Amino acid sequence: MPIRPTEWEGVSTDGPWLLTQNMVPGISVYGESLPREGGIEYRRWDANRSKLAAYLKCGGRVWGFREPASVLYLGAGSGTTASHVSDICRKGTVTAIEISSRVFRDLLRLAEPRPNLVPVLGDATKPETYGGRLGAVEVLYQDVAQRDQAGIFLKNMEWVQNGGLGYLMVKARSEDMAAPPARIFEAAKRELVKAGLKILDLRVLAPYQLDHADLVAQKP
Ligand SMILES: C[S@@+](CC[C@H](N)C(=O)[O-])C[C@H]1O[C@@H](n2cnc3c(N)ncnc32)[C@H](O)[C@@H]1O
Repeated sequence: MPIRPTEWEGVSTDGPWLLTQNMVPGISVYGESLPREGGIEYRRWDANRSKLAAYLKCGGRVWGFREPASVLYLGAGSGTTASHVSDICRKGTVTAIEISSRVFRDLLRLAEPRPNLVPVLGDATKPETYGGRLGAVEVLYQDVAQRDQAGIFLKNMEWVQNGGLGYLMVKARSEDMAAPPARIFEAAKRELVKAGLKILDLRVLAPYQLDHADLVAQKP
Protein backbone atom coordinates (compact mmCIF):
# COMPACT_ATOMS: atom_id res chain seq x y z
CA MET A 1 0.00 0.00 0.00
CA PRO A 2 1.28 3.53 -0.72
CA ILE A 3 2.55 5.62 2.19
CA ARG A 4 0.03 8.27 3.24
CA PRO A 5 -0.47 10.70 6.14
CA THR A 6 -2.68 9.75 9.11
CA GLU A 7 -4.96 11.88 11.27
CA TRP A 8 -2.05 12.27 13.75
CA GLU A 9 0.26 15.10 12.71
CA GLY A 10 3.71 13.81 11.72
CA VAL A 11 2.65 10.15 11.53
CA SER A 12 2.24 8.27 8.24
CA THR A 13 1.21 4.70 7.43
CA ASP A 14 1.65 2.11 4.71
CA GLY A 15 -1.33 0.10 6.00
CA PRO A 16 0.01 -2.31 8.63
CA TRP A 17 2.77 -0.04 9.93
CA LEU A 18 2.94 3.40 11.47
CA LEU A 19 5.83 5.48 10.10
CA THR A 20 7.61 8.73 10.92
CA GLN A 21 9.79 10.70 8.51
CA ASN A 22 13.42 9.96 9.32
CA MET A 23 15.16 13.13 10.46
CA VAL A 24 18.53 11.44 9.92
CA PRO A 25 18.26 9.54 6.61
CA GLY A 26 20.19 6.29 6.47
CA ILE A 27 20.19 5.80 10.25
CA SER A 28 18.02 3.12 11.86
CA VAL A 29 17.81 3.65 15.64
CA TYR A 30 16.71 0.23 16.95
CA GLY A 31 16.84 -1.99 13.86
CA GLU A 32 13.58 -0.65 12.36
CA SER A 33 13.34 -0.74 8.57
CA LEU A 34 13.54 2.44 6.51
CA PRO A 35 11.05 2.43 3.64
CA ARG A 36 11.35 5.19 1.01
CA GLU A 37 8.70 6.75 -1.17
CA GLY A 38 8.59 9.96 -3.21
CA GLY A 39 12.16 10.78 -2.25
CA ILE A 40 11.32 10.66 1.49
CA GLU A 41 12.76 8.16 3.93
CA TYR A 42 10.52 6.91 6.75
CA ARG A 43 11.12 4.81 9.87
CA ARG A 44 8.80 2.00 10.89
CA TRP A 45 7.38 2.72 14.34
CA ASP A 46 6.96 -0.53 16.24
CA ALA A 47 4.04 -0.63 18.73
CA ASN A 48 5.68 -3.56 20.51
CA ARG A 49 8.71 -1.36 21.24
CA SER A 50 7.02 2.00 21.85
CA LYS A 51 4.04 2.77 24.10
CA LEU A 52 3.17 5.90 22.15
CA ALA A 53 2.85 3.87 18.94
CA ALA A 54 0.83 1.31 20.92
CA TYR A 55 -1.50 4.13 22.03
CA LEU A 56 -2.22 4.96 18.37
CA LYS A 57 -2.57 1.31 17.34
CA CYS A 58 -5.05 0.83 20.20
CA GLY A 59 -7.26 3.62 18.83
CA GLY A 60 -5.92 6.65 20.73
CA ARG A 61 -7.12 9.90 19.18
CA VAL A 62 -5.75 12.65 21.42
CA TRP A 63 -2.65 14.08 19.76
CA GLY A 64 -0.58 17.01 20.97
CA PHE A 65 2.68 16.23 19.16
CA ARG A 66 2.60 18.99 16.54
CA GLU A 67 5.60 19.79 14.31
CA PRO A 68 6.67 22.86 16.35
CA ALA A 69 5.72 21.42 19.79
CA SER A 70 7.97 21.64 22.82
CA VAL A 71 7.96 18.32 24.70
CA LEU A 72 9.27 17.27 28.10
CA TYR A 73 9.98 13.53 27.91
CA LEU A 74 10.63 11.66 31.19
CA GLY A 75 12.32 8.25 31.16
CA ALA A 76 13.77 8.41 27.65
CA GLY A 77 15.87 5.25 27.99
CA SER A 78 18.11 4.82 24.96
CA GLY A 79 15.64 6.86 22.90
CA THR A 80 13.45 4.39 20.98
CA THR A 81 10.26 6.46 21.37
CA ALA A 82 12.06 9.79 21.83
CA SER A 83 13.58 9.34 18.35
CA HIS A 84 10.11 9.12 16.79
CA VAL A 85 8.91 12.12 18.83
CA SER A 86 11.98 13.96 17.51
CA ASP A 87 10.96 12.98 13.93
CA ILE A 88 7.42 14.28 14.57
CA CYS A 89 8.16 17.51 16.46
CA ARG A 90 10.94 18.38 14.00
CA LYS A 91 10.61 22.12 14.40
CA GLY A 92 10.13 21.97 18.17
CA THR A 93 12.24 20.77 21.09
CA VAL A 94 12.20 17.42 22.86
CA THR A 95 13.91 17.61 26.25
CA ALA A 96 14.60 14.02 27.24
CA ILE A 97 15.29 13.22 30.91
CA GLU A 98 16.94 9.91 31.80
CA ILE A 99 18.34 8.80 35.18
CA SER A 100 20.52 5.87 34.13
CA SER A 101 23.99 6.89 32.97
CA ARG A 102 24.36 3.58 31.12
CA VAL A 103 21.45 4.19 28.71
CA PHE A 104 22.11 7.95 28.71
CA ARG A 105 25.26 7.30 26.67
CA ASP A 106 23.11 5.81 23.87
CA LEU A 107 20.71 8.75 24.16
CA LEU A 108 23.60 11.20 23.72
CA ARG A 109 24.76 9.37 20.59
CA LEU A 110 21.20 9.40 19.22
CA ALA A 111 20.83 13.14 19.85
CA GLU A 112 24.07 14.19 18.16
CA PRO A 113 22.60 14.54 14.61
CA ARG A 114 19.14 15.58 15.93
CA PRO A 115 19.15 19.29 16.74
CA ASN A 116 15.68 19.19 18.37
CA LEU A 117 16.55 16.43 20.86
CA VAL A 118 18.11 17.64 24.11
CA PRO A 119 19.19 14.83 26.47
CA VAL A 120 19.47 15.60 30.18
CA LEU A 121 20.91 13.18 32.75
CA GLY A 122 18.43 13.79 35.55
CA ASP A 123 15.82 12.48 37.96
CA ALA A 124 12.15 12.94 37.04
CA THR A 125 11.23 13.02 40.73
CA LYS A 126 13.19 16.29 41.01
CA PRO A 127 11.71 18.53 38.29
CA GLU A 128 13.16 21.62 39.95
CA THR A 129 16.65 20.46 38.85
CA TYR A 130 15.87 20.77 35.11
CA GLY A 131 12.58 22.71 34.84
CA GLY A 132 14.12 26.15 35.13
CA ARG A 133 15.87 25.92 31.76
CA LEU A 134 12.74 24.60 29.98
CA GLY A 135 10.13 27.32 30.05
CA ALA A 136 6.52 26.14 29.68
CA VAL A 137 6.15 23.08 27.43
CA GLU A 138 3.13 22.05 25.36
CA VAL A 139 3.39 18.31 26.01
CA LEU A 140 4.62 16.15 28.88
CA TYR A 141 5.32 12.48 28.13
CA GLN A 142 6.22 10.16 31.00
CA ASP A 143 7.39 6.54 30.88
CA VAL A 144 9.48 5.99 34.01
CA ALA A 145 8.41 2.53 35.24
CA GLN A 146 8.90 3.23 38.94
CA ARG A 147 6.60 3.71 41.95
CA ASP A 148 4.37 6.79 42.34
CA GLN A 149 4.05 7.40 38.59
CA ALA A 150 1.03 9.70 39.06
CA GLY A 151 2.82 11.71 41.76
CA ILE A 152 5.88 12.23 39.52
CA PHE A 153 3.62 13.20 36.62
CA LEU A 154 1.77 15.79 38.69
CA LYS A 155 5.00 17.41 39.86
CA ASN A 156 6.14 17.71 36.23
CA MET A 157 2.80 19.06 34.98
CA GLU A 158 3.99 22.27 36.70
CA TRP A 159 6.12 22.84 33.58
CA VAL A 160 3.21 22.38 31.14
CA GLN A 161 1.45 25.46 29.80
CA ASN A 162 -2.29 25.96 30.42
CA GLY A 163 -4.26 23.91 27.88
CA GLY A 164 -1.21 21.65 27.35
CA LEU A 165 -1.36 17.85 27.39
CA GLY A 166 0.26 15.15 29.48
CA TYR A 167 0.69 11.50 28.46
CA LEU A 168 1.25 9.22 31.44
CA MET A 169 2.28 5.68 30.53
CA VAL A 170 1.30 3.70 33.62
CA LYS A 171 3.07 0.41 34.25
CA ALA A 172 0.79 -1.43 36.69
CA ARG A 173 3.51 -3.73 37.99
CA SER A 174 5.74 -0.87 39.00
CA GLU A 175 3.04 0.22 41.48
CA ASP A 176 1.92 -3.18 42.81
CA MET A 177 2.90 -6.63 41.52
CA ALA A 178 -0.26 -8.27 42.89
CA ALA A 179 -3.11 -5.80 42.30
CA PRO A 180 -5.27 -6.04 39.17
CA PRO A 181 -3.90 -3.54 36.59
CA ALA A 182 -7.36 -1.99 36.03
CA ARG A 183 -7.45 -0.95 39.69
CA ILE A 184 -4.01 0.69 39.41
CA PHE A 185 -5.07 2.60 36.28
CA GLU A 186 -8.25 3.88 37.96
CA ALA A 187 -6.28 4.95 41.06
CA ALA A 188 -3.86 6.93 38.89
CA LYS A 189 -6.78 8.54 37.07
CA ARG A 190 -8.42 9.54 40.38
CA GLU A 191 -5.15 11.12 41.54
CA LEU A 192 -4.93 13.23 38.38
CA VAL A 193 -8.59 14.32 38.61
CA LYS A 194 -8.13 15.23 42.29
CA ALA A 195 -5.23 17.48 41.27
CA GLY A 196 -7.54 19.36 38.88
CA LEU A 197 -6.51 17.81 35.54
CA LYS A 198 -9.07 16.97 32.87
CA ILE A 199 -8.83 13.35 31.70
CA LEU A 200 -9.11 13.10 27.91
CA ASP A 201 -8.36 9.40 27.54
CA LEU A 202 -7.54 6.23 29.48
CA ARG A 203 -6.44 3.49 27.12
CA VAL A 204 -5.12 0.03 27.90
CA LEU A 205 -2.17 -0.79 25.61
CA ALA A 206 -2.71 -4.56 25.22
CA PRO A 207 -1.81 -6.58 23.23
CA TYR A 208 1.23 -4.43 22.36
CA GLN A 209 2.28 -3.54 25.92
CA LEU A 210 0.90 -5.81 28.63
CA ASP A 211 -0.25 -4.34 31.98
CA HIS A 212 0.24 -0.80 30.69
CA ALA A 213 -2.22 2.02 30.05
CA ASP A 214 -1.93 5.53 28.68
CA LEU A 215 -3.67 8.26 30.65
CA VAL A 216 -3.94 11.48 28.67
CA ALA A 217 -4.72 14.59 30.70
CA GLN A 218 -5.08 18.28 29.98
CA LYS A 219 -4.01 21.14 32.20
CA PRO A 220 -6.97 23.54 32.40
C1 LIG B 1 10.42 1.72 30.17
S1 LIG B 1 11.96 2.51 30.11
C2 LIG B 1 11.76 3.80 28.93
C3 LIG B 1 11.56 3.41 27.50
C4 LIG B 1 11.44 4.63 26.60
N1 LIG B 1 10.49 5.59 27.13
C5 LIG B 1 11.00 4.29 25.20
O1 LIG B 1 9.80 4.16 24.94
O2 LIG B 1 11.87 4.18 24.33
C6 LIG B 1 11.93 3.47 31.58
C7 LIG B 1 13.12 4.38 31.74
O3 LIG B 1 12.87 5.26 32.81
C8 LIG B 1 14.08 5.53 33.46
N2 LIG B 1 13.77 6.07 34.79
C9 LIG B 1 13.30 5.40 35.87
N3 LIG B 1 13.15 6.25 36.91
C10 LIG B 1 13.50 7.48 36.45
C11 LIG B 1 13.56 8.77 37.04
N4 LIG B 1 13.21 8.96 38.32
N5 LIG B 1 13.98 9.81 36.29
C12 LIG B 1 14.34 9.64 34.99
N6 LIG B 1 14.31 8.43 34.37
C13 LIG B 1 13.90 7.37 35.10
C14 LIG B 1 14.78 4.18 33.45
O4 LIG B 1 16.18 4.31 33.64
C15 LIG B 1 14.41 3.66 32.07
O5 LIG B 1 15.40 4.00 31.11
